[in-house]
Amino acid sequence: MPNSFAREAIQSSKVALGLAIRADRRRTISTGVFQVVGAVAAIGTVVIGKVLLERILDDGATSPQQLLWPLLGLALVTAITGSIAVIRNQQERLLGERVSQLVWNEVLDVVTNVDLMTYEQPGFITEYANVERGGMTRPLPMTKSVFGLMGAGLGVVAMLFALVSIAPVLAPILFLGAIPAVIVSRLASRSEFAFAQRLTPDFLRREYLRRVLTHREYAAEVRSFGAAPNLRSRHTMLDGVVADGLKTQVAGRTRLALVQIAGSALSLVAVLLVIVYMLDRNFLSLPQAGAAAIAVRILGSQLSSVYGSFSTLTESAPFVAELNKFLRNRPKVNALGEPEVLHRRLTLSNVGFQYPGRETAALAGIDLFIDRGEVVALVGENGSGKTTLANIVAGLYEADSGEILWDDEPLARERVRASVTMVFQDFAQFSFSVSDNIDIAGRAITNPGRVHLAAQGAQLAETIASLPSGFDTMLGRDLDDGLDLSGGQWQRMALARALLKNSSLIVLDEPSAALDPRAENELFHDVRRVLDGRAALLISHRYSNVKHADRIYVLDGGRVVECGSHYELMSRGGKYADLFTLQSAAYSIESADE
Ligand SMILES: Nc1ncnc2c1ncn2[C@@H]1O[C@H](COP(=O)(O)OP(=O)(O)O)[C@@H](O)[C@H]1O
Ligand SMILES: [Mg+2]
Repeated sequence: MPNSFAREAIQSSKVALGLAIRADRRRTISTGVFQVVGAVAAIGTVVIGKVLLERILDDGATSPQQLLWPLLGLALVTAITGSIAVIRNQQERLLGERVSQLVWNEVLDVVTNVDLMTYEQPGFITEYANVERGGMTRPLPMTKSVFGLMGAGLGVVAMLFALVSIAPVLAPILFLGAIPAVIVSRLASRSEFAFAQRLTPDFLRREYLRRVLTHREYAAEVRSFGAAPNLRSRHTMLDGVVADGLKTQVAGRTRLALVQIAGSALSLVAVLLVIVYMLDRNFLSLPQAGAAAIAVRILGSQLSSVYGSFSTLTESAPFVAELNKFLRNRPKVNALGEPEVLHRRLTLSNVGFQYPGRETAALAGIDLFIDRGEVVALVGENGSGKTTLANIVAGLYEADSGEILWDDEPLARERVRASVTMVFQDFAQFSFSVSDNIDIAGRAITNPGRVHLAAQGAQLAETIASLPSGFDTMLGRDLDDGLDLSGGQWQRMALARALLKNSSLIVLDEPSAALDPRAENELFHDVRRVLDGRAALLISHRYSNVKHADRIYVLDGGRVVECGSHYELMSRGGKYADLFTLQSAAYSIESADE
């Protein structure tokens, strides 16, 4: 156990130092040098102190001139120590920013490249939160404590030399005093890490409540339902949980720290008693005793800074180890592969899929094909598996079983992702400009004409022309200068985003949910013109929308229950025919009511 404790501390120190050096080699080295110079300056204080005392005490008649040099030396050493501390602090702010930038970039490299499925895996959100709250903040304190340990360690060694040369017996006593510190560090490190891990779920829940209570996204519903008091009381409850946890933790840490302080105070007293005893017995001269007392004092403060660095180091070690594990172990997927054109046919055969932690499969035995330029529809009730299937076709999820062939060949999933475009059912509304909302990947920065064309294709040209700054108008609800659009306009924005990617297959997941009936009708009637020769998988729960598709797949409970053209399915008189008749009857009543 002590071995693994030491190993973790050493390994994490290496990781933290490695990060610091990569982030800013020059400042990392200067931080180390400043620590060492600071320690040497502290030694200078003892040496000069001893010289001063000798001159004052030894030859009764010391002239002021003889004291001048040592006094000037003392002033110089004090000035050096002070200015180094100031410079070091300011440099460390810069180093801190650089290290944090590097760590953020490394974490973003990992997180933006993990597979979408990772987000479905239980525990990922908490694991990431642990890293963000704990691991990412520790490399700098850890680096500083490594250097602190070096500097203070050097100081300790020098003071021990000084003491041993005066009175060897003093050294072991001081060492005994350090033993409680080591034990305490180890206990404290364990308990601090466990505490952080234990409370992460509560922190996350509390952060979420704060978001719900403060963000514009939720503001209307929170007010309309008068939800604030209820949500506030949950927030208060979590406050209580966090405060109670922290109280226990703080009490434990305080007890540990007091034990450690008592240990070093006792050893200090013991050493001073020994000095007094030796002085009394004439084993030491007065200047020697004085210098020993100064050395003990400085040694005491060096030891406590060794202790401080040591405990920061051991406390940070498990967090840095966790960060390191997160950065190293996470399987990466290639963000986007080379896009491929669909020349003939995309085929899914016997495809099955189950969400982690779910009892039943979301999809089973799916057979489906889409030919170049075809509009294929997928209909089914809520929860029948349409969105899941869309995610598989778009290469976002990996099927658990079955085969997916692109022009009769299997295609790597990152290439499928690059080759298929998806308009998402719950598409994002980015708080960026109109252009950036459409060209989120920056594909058309050098060719804004493409963005305009995509906007035109999605029938957004007029809307955008009416905005205060056209394509440069800032949209969104998250920043102060954002302008909000209607649901239907946002939906067209998502469509324009998809058109810009320019794939030969596009998946439209319930693209009409936010459109008014006329716009919906236009879109579905016009879908072939909008698609401009692209093949499409068109998803809807409204049967009348998919009438014009080349082929319709009816999904029920994760299985294809019927397939064919509108007329084939109608004449078969099955589920599609039933629901089509039912929905069009309801729709004509609605229309008659108007
Ligand atoms: N992220 C998820 N984790 C677990 N189960 C999910 C997830 N998303 C969807 N499901 C489940 O999978 C089934 C199919 O959902 P979905 O594909 O979204 O249906 P549809 O789009 O047809 O409404 C449903 O039973 C749903 O509860
Ligand atoms: Mg859906």
